[in-house]
Amino acid sequence: MAENDYNGVTERDFRREDDEEIEQKLRPGRFDEYIGQEKVKHNMQVFIAAAKGRGETLDHVLLYGQPGLGKTTLSNIIASEMGARLRVTAGPAIERPGDMAAILNDMNEGDFLFIDEIHRLNRAIEEILYPAMEDFVLDIVIGKGPAAKSIRLDLPRFTLIGATTRIGLLTAPLRDRFGVVHHLEPYSAADLKKILTRSASVLAVELTEAGAEEIARRSRGTPRVANRLLKRVRDFAQVQYDGVITGEVAKASLDRLEIDLMGLDAVDKKILRAIIEKFGGGPVGLETLAASIDEESGTLEDVAEPYLLQLGFIQRTPRGRMVTRLGYQHLGLPMPSEPAVNEQMDLF
Ligand code: ADE
Repeated sequence: MAENDYNGVTERDFRREDDEEIEQKLRPGRFDEYIGQEKVKHNMQVFIAAAKGRGETLDHVLLYGQPGLGKTTLSNIIASEMGARLRVTAGPAIERPGDMAAILNDMNEGDFLFIDEIHRLNRAIEEILYPAMEDFVLDIVIGKGPAAKSIRLDLPRFTLIGATTRIGLLTAPLRDRFGVVHHLEPYSAADLKKILTRSASVLAVELTEAGAEEIARRSRGTPRVANRLLKRVRDFAQVQYDGVITGEVAKASLDRLEIDLMGLDAVDKKILRAIIEKFGGGPVGLETLAASIDEESGTLEDVAEPYLLQLGFIQRTPRGRMVTRLGYQHLGLPMPSEPAVNEQMDLF
């Protein structure tokens, strides 16, 4: 038997639990451990202290920003600082109005409900949320047709934390029902360095200043990416070096992972190359582009594109995406409007 069995629990199960425990430990559990997002942190601490001082629940909170910036982590911290329970769900998981009603009906006074990807709730479900958020009531329709009756149930006062990568897709009535709206910004390399240093100590791996700097620079402003890269570089450090993550080790490992100096990975480069080589530099529509490289348009829009836009390597125009001069430069390619260097030579 490949796996040891301890009362029906396999060694692999233990290991999986270990993984979850490590993931949990990598996430800060309190504001004083949380690095970066200073404005959001400061304001939230004030709102929490004020609500606690008045003995009230916190107003509903909307967090938006690109994936991996810690919206779930922050929600856990907010609930825990309020001494409350957090129930976690996501827009696509709530399929019918009855699912939403059941979740709301199960809330206790002061509980937090976290809805990730809240922009993906359908309209009928959103409509249940409006009176629940505003007046803490649940309107339930019983029966169908002319015999249908609506009954109103009181709900305990709860706090909804909505998270989204796409604030523009939220309907105005839903957006307007959040008393607190925060935008999470990409992290600076300095903050990512601090996060990496903390994570290295959780993972019990030695990380030098130069090692942290090298990983931070290529983590596209995102703690989730930084921690993922740290784990992979740790593997290289353990197997191919002496276990210590120095600048050299980090650099060599990240090169092997095809993460370039600006943090672009193979998919980002595939996108830039496709726009240039297949669509003359653009503009090209998102769906056409996604199909041409066999990627999901959602992944492109939520993960790759925000970073390429942030770096100024692509531009969004009404007719589609275009690669900018900076994008061409990064790939070492000439802009089509500019004669290539050897053609310039021909002019003389
Ligand atoms: N791990 C992931 N995000 C973090 C943060 N903002 N601060 C500290 N550790 C983190």
